[in-house]
Amino acid sequence: MSHLIAPSVLSADFNNLERDAEMINNSEADWFHVDVMDGVFVPNISFGFPVIKALNKVAKKPLDVHLMIVRPEEYVTQFRDVGASVLTVHYEASPHLHRTLQAIKAAGMQAGVAINPHTPVALLEDLISDIDLVTIMSVNPGFGGQKFIENTYKKITDLVALKNKAKTDLHIEIDGGVNLDNYPELVKAGANVLVAGNTVFSSNNPTNTIADLKKTVG
Ligand code: DX5
Ligand code: ZN
Repeated sequence: MSHLIAPSVLSADFNNLERDAEMINNSEADWFHVDVMDGVFVPNISFGFPVIKALNKVAKKPLDVHLMIVRPEEYVTQFRDVGASVLTVHYEASPHLHRTLQAIKAAGMQAGVAINPHTPVALLEDLISDIDLVTIMSVNPGFGGQKFIENTYKKITDLVALKNKAKTDLHIEIDGGVNLDNYPELVKAGANVLVAGNTVFSSNNPTNTIADLKKTVG
């Protein structure tokens, strides 16, 4: 099965957000990746509800919302109401993760769990069947344009094994430092959703770069 590409809006031009959203609409991209940062869980602040609502008005593809915030469970329905299709919370930010995932699904969204580079995949074992998507962070969350962490490949392998053992289906998303050099290895290892911010938006031709990232891995 072919992999999905989710350009990260964090690297878009916020003075031309509509233009960049149209670029994504008209490209081979599958989802919009939307990073919400609160300055508490991560050392950066990005944007919140009004910006996502505005984006959703022009976006013709699903919004994959990645919450890098504390107490994500308090905002589930608000993110649904501004257009989230996939809502991902951090393992490290949600002490009652099982309950949070049920709340996300009850609100009609796909439920995702993101894990930081130091968090082992094995910690997801007891709720793997309740998860629609796992985001393996391949950088420390907070900023676009960082260097890819090589240990990610091992984590993908661990997650594929856990998924197969549980006989469950879920998306394996990689977030951070994805580029044209490493994407084939990531897909071969078992990833099926690739987030790309800097690689797409710093390129001379973002549409072509998305098409390149989307090329089938042999
Ligand atoms: C990092 C964010 C990423 C970021 C990826 O905290 O979660 O989604 O936008 O950006 P690149 O692809 O530039 O590493
Ligand atoms: Zn992200």
